[in-house]
Amino acid sequence: MMRTDTPVSVKLENYTPYPFAIEQAELDFSLEPEATRVRTKMMVKRLAPGALVLDGVGLTLNGISIDGQPLGDGDYKVDEETLTIASVPDTFELETDVTINPKANTALSGLYISAGRFCSQCEATGFRRITYWPDRPDVMSRFHVRMDADKAKYPILLSNGTPSKTGDLSDGRHFAEWDDPHPKPSYLFALCAGDYDVWRDTFTTMNGDHVDLGVYVDKGQAKRAEWAMESLKASMKWDEERFGRAYDLGVFNIVAVRDFNFGAMENKGLNIFNSAYVLASPDSATDADFEAIESIVGHEYFHNWTGNRITCRDWFQLCLKEGLTVFRDQEFSSDLRSRPVQRIKDVMTLRARQFAEDAGPLAHPVRPQAYGSIDNLYTATVYVKGAELIRALTVLIGDDAFNKGMQIYFDEFDGTASTIEDFYSCFEKASGKDLSQFRLWYAQAGTPEVTVEEAWDETNATLTLKLSQTTPATPEQDTKKPVPIPLRTALLDGKGGHVAAEGWENGETVIALEEAEKTVTVKVPDGSPRPLLSINREFSAPIRLKRDLDQAALLELAAAETDPFNIWDSFQSLAKAEIFRLLDEPQSPPDEALVTALADAVRQNEQDPAFAALLTVLPDIGELFQERDPADPAGLDAARKRLRKALAEEMASDAERILAKPSPEPFAPTPDQAGTRAMRTAMIGLTGAKGTPEAASSLKALFDGASNMTESLACLRALISIPGKPRDEAISTFYETWKDNPLVIDKWFAVQAGQGTADDARRLSQHPDFDLSNPNRVRSVAAAFAMTNLAAFHAPDGDGHRVIGDIVARIDKLNPALAARLLTSFEQWKKLEPKARASAETVLTDLRAARLSQNAMDIVARALD
Ligand code: TRP
Ligand code: ZN
Repeated sequence: MMRTDTPVSVKLENYTPYPFAIEQAELDFSLEPEATRVRTKMMVKRLAPGALVLDGVGLTLNGISIDGQPLGDGDYKVDEETLTIASVPDTFELETDVTINPKANTALSGLYISAGRFCSQCEATGFRRITYWPDRPDVMSRFHVRMDADKAKYPILLSNGTPSKTGDLSDGRHFAEWDDPHPKPSYLFALCAGDYDVWRDTFTTMNGDHVDLGVYVDKGQAKRAEWAMESLKASMKWDEERFGRAYDLGVFNIVAVRDFNFGAMENKGLNIFNSAYVLASPDSATDADFEAIESIVGHEYFHNWTGNRITCRDWFQLCLKEGLTVFRDQEFSSDLRSRPVQRIKDVMTLRARQFAEDAGPLAHPVRPQAYGSIDNLYTATVYVKGAELIRALTVLIGDDAFNKGMQIYFDEFDGTASTIEDFYSCFEKASGKDLSQFRLWYAQAGTPEVTVEEAWDETNATLTLKLSQTTPATPEQDTKKPVPIPLRTALLDGKGGHVAAEGWENGETVIALEEAEKTVTVKVPDGSPRPLLSINREFSAPIRLKRDLDQAALLELAAAETDPFNIWDSFQSLAKAEIFRLLDEPQSPPDEALVTALADAVRQNEQDPAFAALLTVLPDIGELFQERDPADPAGLDAARKRLRKALAEEMASDAERILAKPSPEPFAPTPDQAGTRAMRTAMIGLTGAKGTPEAASSLKALFDGASNMTESLACLRALISIPGKPRDEAISTFYETWKDNPLVIDKWFAVQAGQGTADDARRLSQHPDFDLSNPNRVRSVAAAFAMTNLAAFHAPDGDGHRVIGDIVARIDKLNPALAARLLTSFEQWKKLEPKARASAETVLTDLRAARLSQNAMDIVARALD
């Protein structure tokens, strides 16, 4: 493992093309857990003057030759990260022979062993831990792979592309060859070997091509791959219908692994997944799990065009594939399920994670100018804000120009390693608009704030809107320029319709706020009463909206709204203001008018239960936190709980009525049934919020009778916060029932860490089933505690900070990427009230002194800066 004290920074402005092309490569693996031999042949052609520099980390070099001639010690230079050959011919074949140790690979980058099977993870820079190679996305090669292994232990041998020769060797070994005809960068290479059960199916593309599909999972688990397979077929069909993109190989395989640093990986023809996003059965998976599987299977599949066929020139362009592919998976989910519900969930994630990131010391542009560690660039900003920018673009130029631009992009850039500029040139062509100002969104960090002021002129029946924007300063960016902000806008008549504003179609328009300030005057029919303004409908731009509306005005607006997103958002604003008031006035009871209005809104929407369920969710602490300086998470949590309890009491009979009905049987992971269960689990949650012994016993009864994981887990979650026998029994029954299913036990850890104290988190991290080498298990305790339980994590006694600091220090020795990700939970420390702030600073300062990995140091240094 590389340890350095001075974080080195890679800069976008220093990009230079690689001076060689490697059109073809042959890799030959002789697989052994502790000593795998990798022989690589590459056909190299010079494009520009210069030495041949290859990346390589942790490799034992056995030999190297050019055109069959072994090189001597003086012919090349090897250091910790590179192999350099100063003088090479213009065209040659380079052969290297290295040995690696997959079993010792705890960082889960490169080739490693998970549950006794070989698997690989090469994005972003794992391939250099497998063989010497120019490990950068703009070098694209055709790979031919051969591997041999012990046949009994590793009967299935997989790589990218399509299978070719197979056969038996001596000593009980066998071999397989794979051929990928599509040139690809090294980060998309994959290899898996072991014993699996397979769920198979087939797909016929719109071109009539036949594709063999396989999902490879643990022995005995094939049936649990069925939903992932259904999701894969739905993804293939959707990309054909929505974007005209068909699959381009005869084989598509997915392999599930239990030890994985991320959700999943889009390797060409051989996606590798965290098993949490593959395995599902009605008894053990929640509706949220089924939904996540569908969306992540879609995401990785959609990368085949946005990421693989068109890849990134360099890692600064990461949003080119990730932002776009998240946008595509969000659209996929919207089309398969409910568009408004999907939009609300996506905005919840954006606000909780990306707005928080944008407001702290780790803020960075969607396309940064520099990075210290590439693993730390896989952020909410790159993924989620990146997707929002594509969505804002569709609003700004319209769906037709957007679709046309996408087709230009696929036509012009197929087979290339591209940039954000390349991508936007397609939409400039399609729309005829200059999008250079829009691209500022990619260069500026921070969440723009838009202020709206209204003036009503009754005599002339005109409404004047004064709009202005500012973006707060972020690290290394003191001043910001205005960005184009497309605001979907409507004028509401208060009777469920729109006012016929002059020049607006159906009373709706898109206002493009491109400058710092803008005034818009709208004429409505003479004699109209004052219309109500509905703005940033569907959350058309990723901004914070400032409007000076009191509770009465917001309630009136919520009742008049025609946009489901804005209905939900009006109640979020109301709830936020009320929680802040309760925090400032600890003696005052929750406002009855608000509680009644919220309960009424939930009841009125019961025919759309997935939407109604979201109305019961109050803004979470992470979001409330952002608007307080200094922030007191424990106080916010207490105020939020008081409001939630009031809502629970107001809705007690609704909860009883809804929960008295049976849960849908037989279970199916359909949007319909999931909606019904979402409403039921919302009511389970509210029942828990009452906090009474009666609530606990009715929850325990529901828990005992639950026929699906969604409700069983909801009951457990609700019970956790009510100390007593029902709670303790539920915790132990759940454990005993599921102790052999690691994905369910992850949930068991997470519900406890997500609501307990620092002591609970420490106790969980000492449980015999806690496992530092398994990222899912580590996250189920550490991330659940530090990222979803802010009141306890940031408790003034500092214990929460210390627990996480300790876990991070231990993890960092095994898995730096995971340690760095956990450290981001400290990103808001400077906003904390003085006591918690001091303890966070102590923990971070101690970590800085502790010689952590470069990944971890990058976060610590930026957080402290
Ligand atoms: N490209 C993957 C995705 O978003 C992300 C990913 C998977 C990843 N594994 C990783 C990123 C390891 C960094 C390190 O679909
Ligand atoms: Zn992705």
